[in-house]
Amino acid sequence: FVPKLLAGRKVVLTAGPTFEALDPVRGITNISSGKMGYALARACAQAGAEVVLVSGPVSLPVPAEVRRVSVTSALEMRDAVLHALPGADVFIGVAAVADYRPLASAEHKLKKSADTMNIALTPNPDILAEVAAHADAPFCVGFAAESRDLDAYAEGKRRNKRLPMLVGNLVSDGMGGDDNTVILYDDAGRHPLPRAAKAEVARGIVAHLAGLLPARGR
Ligand code: C5P
Repeated sequence: FVPKLLAGRKVVLTAGPTFEALDPVRGITNISSGKMGYALARACAQAGAEVVLVSGPVSLPVPAEVRRVSVTSALEMRDAVLHALPGADVFIGVAAVADYRPLASAEHKLKKSADTMNIALTPNPDILAEVAAHADAPFCVGFAAESRDLDAYAEGKRRNKRLPMLVGNLVSDGMGGDDNTVILYDDAGRHPLPRAAKAEVARGIVAHLAGLLPARGR
């Protein structure tokens, strides 16, 4: 039995890495598996929400009752999020969005030479900060995967991006694996969840965020 904590709500999530093309066959990406975002999308659907999952390139099945929109780059992810957002009560940024993309993507395969090669990068938009800054923003939840000083970085990101809630984890505890150890941060402080399978952690996150959601009637 799963309590329908999000009945009547619309949730938009991002998950997975982004892939920033250098040429038709190469690019810059990261080790995000997408498992946490997919588990959370599933948990939101099980809690009764209408769910749109904007996903970077991963090879995971679409959870039942979830609408997946597949994207590759951060710019595509931002467009898909903005398109899915109208009517959303909650936005959860789980994706490990590349902070930078190559300034230019070559139309044809880059050829090697003996010379050193430099790649010029330009910053990607911060999708979550952009959504959270909107006047009519949904309830926004961020993720922070850090390799050290989790509390300080997580609270810093929550404040900078103006998020009511952020989920923090150590890269060593969660990235790529099936289990995760997370700490939830909100205006009331920090709330560690027990180490568990990502499906269980996702249910804990949903329960916490459902308790913070403003009453309906937007
Ligand atoms: O600053 P950092 O990338 O660590 O922030 C992580 C949070 O911000 C995650 O929720 C992530 O999905 C979101 N984010 C984003 N767009 C970016 C960078 C991060 O939505 N360009």
